[in-house]
Amino acid sequence: MNFIKAEEFTDSTLVELISDDKYNEELAKRADKVRKAIYGSDVYVRGLIEFSNYCKNDCYYCGIRRSNKNIERYRLDFDELIMCAKIGYKLGYRTFVLQGGEDMAYKDDDICRIVEEIKKIHSDCAITLSLGERSKNSYRAFYNAGADRYLLREETSNRQHYYKIHPSEMSFENRRQCLFDLKEIGFQVGGGFMVGSPYQEDEDLVKDLRFLQELEPDMVGIGPYISQHDTPFKDMENGSYKKTLRLVSILRLMFPYCLIPATTALGTINPFGREEGLRAGANVLMPNLSPTSYRELYSLYDNKICTGDEAAECRSCLELRVKKAGYNIVTARGDVSKTKRFY
Ligand code: 5AD
Ligand code: FES
Repeated sequence: MNFIKAEEFTDSTLVELISDDKYNEELAKRADKVRKAIYGSDVYVRGLIEFSNYCKNDCYYCGIRRSNKNIERYRLDFDELIMCAKIGYKLGYRTFVLQGGEDMAYKDDDICRIVEEIKKIHSDCAITLSLGERSKNSYRAFYNAGADRYLLREETSNRQHYYKIHPSEMSFENRRQCLFDLKEIGFQVGGGFMVGSPYQEDEDLVKDLRFLQELEPDMVGIGPYISQHDTPFKDMENGSYKKTLRLVSILRLMFPYCLIPATTALGTINPFGREEGLRAGANVLMPNLSPTSYRELYSLYDNKICTGDEAAECRSCLELRVKKAGYNIVTARGDVSKTKRFY
């Protein structure tokens, strides 16, 4: 196939690129070139604080779904969260990602208080929230409290597919609306999806790419689906590693200025997944900063990396790995480059 510009990708070109392993190298080469031209070899790191594994939702694929009675639940309190951020700051993190299940025990005011406190102590840091669907008013309150970015994966852009992997009580439309609300409020916004989630077709992935073109996100997070033994999808096949890498490259080509992480799920499905993700066009890593005693409880999927004894060392471990892969970690907020954008 003749390689054409990302702007000219048709649906059928995308399906072909997504479906065939023979395109990995060429895509990665092109994506790395685009990434280098905009972000150089810099890799931005985000200190990920998984602050609660309580969740009111019951997504069929996720290990912390509310029906899973086999996991011990935890939530970090205000002091523990602030402590995580302080430790992270000393380690060189200038972005903190507060990620949790949809845990309504944290009222809007609680979230605002946490954001305000971290900003008061570390005014040079960015705060990213990832706590699911809330009202536009709640999002506005978080923004006014000082939160800078918000991550909310759309998960899938095919309505039928959405209801094959989520119970009918959830709303496909609301999730998408949330993303547009967040943008309108002023957040840097991140969408994303799982690659190879049960019942997903390559055409669904194209739909996600088209949705993202409409959203014009600042960040896109993707990772392979990985089964979790306590979910209804426990016997479903994992997503493809190579396909995920191809999609990272396609994202870089279609959204040159986006911040794209090499995710933990990618590093779980392959021991060199995060390094390969960087080579394929990713430019962000999100190492875990949560207290080590809680890390294995945030078990969205099985065999998650960085939850055992080695976990306290993530920062130095990654430093080495990134260097070996030919990139370098920088201590910076790492906001999206807004100088020139094209899709
Ligand atoms: N495998 C891979 N990713 C998962 N997520 C949830 N469950 C799984 C799983 N089993 C992803 C979802 C969610 C993000 C926090 O984690 O895409 O948005
Ligand atoms: Fe966590 Fe290597 S990044 S141990």
